[in-house]
Amino acid sequence: MKQPLLDMRNIVKSFSGVRALNGVSITLGDGEVLSLCGENGSGKSTLMKVLSGVWPYGSYDGEIYFQGQQVKASGIRDTEALGIVIIHQELALVKELSVMENIFLGNELGSCVSLNDEMMHSRTRELLAQVKLNISPDTLIRELGVGQQQLVEIAKALNKNVKLLILDEPTSSLTNNEIDILLGIVQELKGQGIACVYISHKLDEVLALSNWVAVIRDGNHIATKAAAELTQNDIISMMVGRQLDELFPRENHQIGETILQVTHAKASQPGASRCQVEDVSFSLRKGEILGVAGLIGSGRTELMQCLYGCYDGDYQATIELSGQTLQIRSQRAALKAGIAMVPEDRKRHGIVPIMGVGRNITLSILDRYTAWFGAIDEEQESHDIHDAIARLKVKTATSELAIKNLSGGNQQKAIIARFLLTKPKILILDEPTRGIDVGAKYEIYKLMFALVKEGVSIIMVSSELPEVIGISDRVLVMHEGRLKGEFDHQGLTQEKIMNCAIKEAESA
Ligand SMILES: Nc1ncnc2c1ncn2[C@@H]1O[C@H](COP(=O)(O)OP(=O)(O)OP(=O)(O)O)[C@@H](O)[C@H]1O
Ligand SMILES: [Mg+2]
Repeated sequence: MKQPLLDMRNIVKSFSGVRALNGVSITLGDGEVLSLCGENGSGKSTLMKVLSGVWPYGSYDGEIYFQGQQVKASGIRDTEALGIVIIHQELALVKELSVMENIFLGNELGSCVSLNDEMMHSRTRELLAQVKLNISPDTLIRELGVGQQQLVEIAKALNKNVKLLILDEPTSSLTNNEIDILLGIVQELKGQGIACVYISHKLDEVLALSNWVAVIRDGNHIATKAAAELTQNDIISMMVGRQLDELFPRENHQIGETILQVTHAKASQPGASRCQVEDVSFSLRKGEILGVAGLIGSGRTELMQCLYGCYDGDYQATIELSGQTLQIRSQRAALKAGIAMVPEDRKRHGIVPIMGVGRNITLSILDRYTAWFGAIDEEQESHDIHDAIARLKVKTATSELAIKNLSGGNQQKAIIARFLLTKPKILILDEPTRGIDVGAKYEIYKLMFALVKEGVSIIMVSSELPEVIGISDRVLVMHEGRLKGEFDHQGLTQEKIMNCAIKEAESA
């Protein structure tokens, strides 16, 4: 048999005695794509950190062979020298440097020929063309959207003479258009003989791209199968160990009176020519799930930020909650009024990375445990933490573990837990299931229905149209800062939403 490009044998990795990988083996040939599927916390990122040398040789058991040679890397420099390049779940470009500087960062000393500025510019232009990015090499990273940054990361990898590219959830925050570009690039690389390990919770992408699908559950290797022989349902049942008969567990619930009325919401950045939110009015009823759809940049998130008092520009809106007119100028005021929001970008606005999972959960209600003399009622706090962890099934070794060590999906569940503890009347969820596996998504939907049955009202901003349609009672569609449509969920289709979300962009 032909020698595989990559052969990982029996990898075992533990963190302070807890096994994250329990003897996982995968192999991969030149120009092949293998997707790793598994629930949040199943060990996908950990396996790739072992492969790329983030976890060095000696910190795990098992063997890795690349092009027939055993790999004993002491860090990612060693694996990069072999042609193994990882693009992490959380992007790692330096925001204040230019695209070109980032592409050559840590790489310019790698070759004995030192490149002059002109050569670096022209090489960068070549690489950018390869990833179909039409921007100047001197653009600063902070001026780029997440999708464009993702493509710059790939350009950077191509500059390193990559033979095996590892993409850890590259599309979780991209627009559909950006996803198409990225998938096209992976296909092209495949054609050039570059292999790829692809991690994604989006099973349609997985099936479209891969030769092989390997499924991991709780650190155990369940199976590796040819993608051509699999359906999405096959993958799901291998991932969760049972059949999920329905993806959207809609439950009947009572919808009551109007509880929230927002009128003439407006938001703009100082000096900007166009408002991010332009005269939006809508209402929300008690026990209702209101979906908000629209393209990225349509103003959905900004509108929610106005309700939650955290928009970072000028904004105004008349907000009437349970008949009372409110001025919401801070998150504290919003929480006090009974409005909570789980933000879209959990790394920037959500978690405190080095703090324990438990304290991250109780962060918004700490004053509740503080007696007048300043001591914290630790018993009550720990009781609430354990309840919350159990209710949301947050997978963590202990509640003291720094939250940055949790898998992406479990961090998200912890943040949702935090806002539930504030006992909101209105819960705003901005992209609640981004980066979340199908099993955990199902649990989050169940939780949403349990909440509306208790009388909570939910606003859910989401780019995943099946989710918007599958979960919402009513759907608002935004386009360029304005409200463009309102639909009942009955009979609603993805086409109807898309037509509404892009109508003017097309005719313009
Ligand atoms: N540095 C660390 N310290 C302690 N535990 C860790 C560390 N890194 C990962 N873990 C644990 O190892 C397990 C596997 O995590 P990993 O990040 O590999 O999951 P994943 O499959 O990538 O999940 P997701 O889909 O959510 O990204 C989890 O239980 C996680 O909490
Ligand atoms: Mg991961």
